Amino acid sequence: MSKNELEQGREQWGTRIGFILAALGSAVGLGNIWRFSYIAGESGGAAFLIIYLLAIAFIGFPIMMCEFMIGRRAQSDAVQSFHIIAPGKPWFIAGGVGVAAGFIILSFYAVVAGWTLKYLFSYITGGLWSTPSDGYESYFTSFISNTQPIIWQFIIMALTVGIVVLGVKKGIEKANKIMMPLLGIILLLLAGYSLTLGGAKAGLTFLFSPDWEAFRNPNVYLTALGQAFFSLSLGMAALITYSSYLPRKEKLPSAATSIIILDTLFAVIAGIMIFPAVFAFNAAPDAGPGLVFITMPEVFGQIGGFGIVIGILFFLLLTAAAISSAVSMLEVCVAYFMRKFSLSRKPTTILIGALIFIIGLPSALSATADAPLGGIHFLGDRGFFDSADFLTSNIMLPLGGLLIALFVGWTWEKSEMMRESDFRSSQFGSIFRWILILLVPIAILAVFVNSIG
Ligand code: TRP
Repeated sequence: MSKNELEQGREQWGTRIGFILAALGSAVGLGNIWRFSYIAGESGGAAFLIIYLLAIAFIGFPIMMCEFMIGRRAQSDAVQSFHIIAPGKPWFIAGGVGVAAGFIILSFYAVVAGWTLKYLFSYITGGLWSTPSDGYESYFTSFISNTQPIIWQFIIMALTVGIVVLGVKKGIEKANKIMMPLLGIILLLLAGYSLTLGGAKAGLTFLFSPDWEAFRNPNVYLTALGQAFFSLSLGMAALITYSSYLPRKEKLPSAATSIIILDTLFAVIAGIMIFPAVFAFNAAPDAGPGLVFITMPEVFGQIGGFGIVIGILFFLLLTAAAISSAVSMLEVCVAYFMRKFSLSRKPTTILIGALIFIIGLPSALSATADAPLGGIHFLGDRGFFDSADFLTSNIMLPLGGLLIALFVGWTWEKSEMMRESDFRSSQFGSIFRWILILLVPIAILAVFVNSIG
């Protein structure tokens, strides 16, 4: 640590590109690779894509900017940042919602990431070198109905803790600097290969041909907005925390633009990787959550020997993308507790990591009705796993995002806002301001009301 850092007592990113890659690592995750593709397929293909792009530009971008503005300005954690900017006001609750959401999302995200790690392991060690005796579907369902996923969930949490323990620059920044380019290369290789399998035309038609009816369906708009939130890691102060390690001189609009464009490219190229392969082997494109764990292994099985290599790369891609997202969720909680209880990074990270692992156990054991805790239901007949997902994705994230947008849009003065956004007096600044004051709250409220109803 340099003298300056010791004096400030707070870590910072080493480089601007390091920050952008870390934020991109948070954004690119399980949400891009399978959620985006099957949602796009089910919700009208290119029609969904157009609405999704609008949602990203007019709602995703402004909220990402708000999170960056709050973090860079306050240079503190999710909760304290609000106290610093608005002392004595209740806005810190937005940060509190973020920390709580971080705990819950990571608790089940690590479970799914554990499944991808288990598949990676099976493709490396031979477990999936040939078709499982009962087929790929029962291979998957019997695996997640058992207690075995706990082991993989534990390994994912240990890896995530291992990165976060090393700190902002030596852990998070370094891991993302290695992982993100690697992910980009694997994704392009797999997408290119998928296009040679003979299903390119059908796959791309499925993903890109607009179903004009979809424009008339309000649910498609809401789904697109929800996906924009989840995919860009918005609403739980993850990006407030990351931008709080940014030197004050760094410009925000260009960083936000790069992250948003790259995250979207990742999602679209993931679709180009998945659907041509699915159609080449006559598999079902709308298998939903099972697409990655049942349909894709079926496809790899039909490719033959080379399918093993593809399987390894595919699950390596998923696991690495999931870990870089998990790291950002853990960092939100760790940064908060380190400051709150004046603890150092190592014990805080290990303690919080262990706690989140334990909170995730019920989710790991309730993925199917046959799982050990699969029979316990609440929150509208949902099991633990689905309740955790519902509570965070559909309630806490939109609520956090709404509060963040209202905080900046309605309580910051115009001059303050223009300065802190780096838009200064440009026309973009005024447009940005009005989008934030009017469009964003109305749109989020619409999603929020719908998902509760
Ligand atoms: N964006 C990640 C994905 O697409 C998930 C994620 C990471 C996230 N951090 C988040 C979602 C914070 C909401 C809030 O998989």
